[in-house]
Amino acid sequence: MSEKQAQSSTGLLAKWRSMPNDSAAKMLVVTVSLCFVCSVIVSGVAITLRPMQVANKALEKNRVILESAGLLDEEKTEDIQTLFDERVEVRVVDLGSGEYVDISNPKTHDQRKASKDPTRNYPIPNERDVANIKRRAQQASVYLVRREGKLQNLIIPVHGYGLWSTMYGFLALESDIKTVTGLSFYEHAETPGLGGEIDNPKWRARWVGKFSHDEQGSPRLEVVKGRVDDSRDGAVHQVDGIAGATLTSVGVSNMMRYWLGDNGFGPYLAKLRANSEG
Ligand SMILES: Cc1cc2nc3c(=O)[nH]c(=O)nc-3n(C[C@H](O)[C@H](O)[C@H](O)COP(=O)(O)O)c2cc1C
Repeated sequence: MSEKQAQSSTGLLAKWRSMPNDSAAKMLVVTVSLCFVCSVIVSGVAITLRPMQVANKALEKNRVILESAGLLDEEKTEDIQTLFDERVEVRVVDLGSGEYVDISNPKTHDQRKASKDPTRNYPIPNERDVANIKRRAQQASVYLVRREGKLQNLIIPVHGYGLWSTMYGFLALESDIKTVTGLSFYEHAETPGLGGEIDNPKWRARWVGKFSHDEQGSPRLEVVKGRVDDSRDGAVHQVDGIAGATLTSVGVSNMMRYWLGDNGFGPYLAKLRANSEG
């Protein structure tokens, strides 16, 4: 540093020190500097934690898949990923034909990403969009749990609009491709205590043992307003509504109707059911 530069920086420092602390210029410089330092720290932390957040989100999804199939109760374990890898087979299905798609690593298929890609999605015509989701992926992930080589559970991803948000979850069926093993959600923004009760284990338990389709193979699973009347015929397809959250409950019914129907997993489920009967 030249003598002239050293003199000017000492002069600047002296000028800064001589300024009163409550001067507008000094307060502005301190505020802007503080904001800059804080924003650098926050951005740095966000960037550093991003991979961890992505990994935790994927793990939570796998936990919910295991939960919906009742595997978390069956095998008390803390190691979700190992249990998932050991017990769950991931396949990809073409929803139009209901046939499996041969891809080298089905675990990497990102259905939500595909639903946003115009080359890989299917814009749902308004009259068919009962779940209010506008578009879906052409190919969907399905999860198979086998015991001694035989299919024990099939888990399908389901999503649909509630009152405030799109609710994402998994519906697990038994090997007859009709009896519900469980329903669990991993993402939604419904109101805690109202629509958020879709996460309540007591409400989720009401789904277990219900039938997704009738004898003719039509999707019938629905949430009713109030309590299910067990003396009525359709009761095997019905689940109690959530008090004070009729709109979320209707959203869950609509989601079931869409994903179990012809425009969702219908063709695939019909094929599997035919195989399980044959
Ligand atoms: C702040 C607030 C949050 C609400 N959140 C939900 C919700 O998450 N899901 C829902 O179905 N209804 C919610 N509601 C209630 C709905 O507006 C509507 O009244 C309700 O779905 C009707 O259900 P009920 O016929 O069972 O009372 C909320 C209402 C308020 C005031």
